[in-house]
Amino acid sequence: MKTELVRVDLGERGYDVLVWTGLLDRLDEVLDAGRWARALVVSDLEVDSLYGARVLAGLERLGVEAELFAVEPGEGSKSLEELGRLLDGMAGFRLARSDMVLALGGGVVGDLAGFAASTFKRGLDLVQAPTTLMSQVDSAIGGKTAVNLASGKNLAGTFHQPVKVVCDVVALSTLPARELAGGLAEVAKYSFIDPEIELDEETVAALQALEPDDLVSTVASCARVKARMVAEDELDRGGVRAVLNYGHTLGHALETATGYGGEYTHGEAVSVGMVFAAMVAERLGLSEVGLAARHHRSLARFGLPVAPLEPRPPFEELLEIMLQDKKSAGDLTMVLLEEEGSPSLHRCLDPEILRDCYGRMGEGE
Ligand SMILES: NC(=O)c1ccc[n+]([C@@H]2O[C@H](COP(=O)([O-])OP(=O)(O)OC[C@H]3O[C@@H](n4cnc5c(N)ncnc54)[C@H](O)[C@@H]3O)[C@@H](O)[C@H]2O)c1
Ligand SMILES: [Zn+2]
Repeated sequence: MKTELVRVDLGERGYDVLVWTGLLDRLDEVLDAGRWARALVVSDLEVDSLYGARVLAGLERLGVEAELFAVEPGEGSKSLEELGRLLDGMAGFRLARSDMVLALGGGVVGDLAGFAASTFKRGLDLVQAPTTLMSQVDSAIGGKTAVNLASGKNLAGTFHQPVKVVCDVVALSTLPARELAGGLAEVAKYSFIDPEIELDEETVAALQALEPDDLVSTVASCARVKARMVAEDELDRGGVRAVLNYGHTLGHALETATGYGGEYTHGEAVSVGMVFAAMVAERLGLSEVGLAARHHRSLARFGLPVAPLEPRPPFEELLEIMLQDKKSAGDLTMVLLEEEGSPSLHRCLDPEILRDCYGRMGEGE
């Protein structure tokens, strides 16, 4: 059994990310006995049906009295209504400040449960048990929590670091193919922004075949990059954490313009956004020609889209959304690469150049 440990170095708020095979069956071995009397496991109905019972059994072996609270799967559960229902559920279960919330699921559950854990009785311990590739390499680490408002995605949220993140790569074997591919888009993102993560053909094949040892290595490598950036820029105040947004400027705009209606998963939109960013870098002369073609090849291997799906939203609409993005502060800001492994933030980009690159996406295919 392969195990990896990644430390998120945040002083007294620091924590371990454990990446193991079979970890969901062994929670009693990795969580501290005697630390909590009660725990509320928050999950979605799908993940609950697959893994809920094992997690509850592990907590029972640990001597923790636990109950499960399940929401409907999907982004719709990251709402103020669901948050209210969950907080009332926590009160109904008589959770004390010294108790714990365990988020078992993908980023939706992690963000919702994290928000609830950070606000109920002004904050209690949170354990993240991410079950999607996307949440294991990204959302479960770093302490960002959020719900969506009618006026926009992730508009209400907090920073609340977990006390532990437990990633069981065996859980990824039940992921729908499209969710796996979406997670692989984030993995590809790490390989583009960090020179240490290499996705050679052999690794790609092993990841697609869900080889447990390769999954453990890759998830831990990505977690290590995220952990380092979070440790340097915990509150995402314009430091290194911003480069995690590679491909997300156009990606978010595509998701918003298409109404988060399932046309794109997050990873698919980011995939298109990364090819776009590479084209912009080439066009500005920041990178040599060839970067976009290499992105294209890397992402297409995972079956990810590398150009906007047709009919594509007009550029004007995307531009409007990109300018309003809470991370761009009114001007056009994007993470761009000089080459693989050297990202930097670029402000005040010329919309005409972006328009031109967008127009050329998908040409010659
Ligand atoms: N907090 C952060 O830093 C951060 C970062 C990135 C994304 N996010 C958020 O994460 C969310 C997306 O997360 P996601 O991609 O994990 O999606 P998700 O949580 O919606 O999960 C995707 C689907 O997979 C199912 N599922 C989960 N684990 C499974 C498993 N092991 N086997 C079978 N099915 C499983 C779920 O039921 C769901 O239907 C978005 O809301 C996004 O805003 C947050
Ligand atoms: Zn992302």
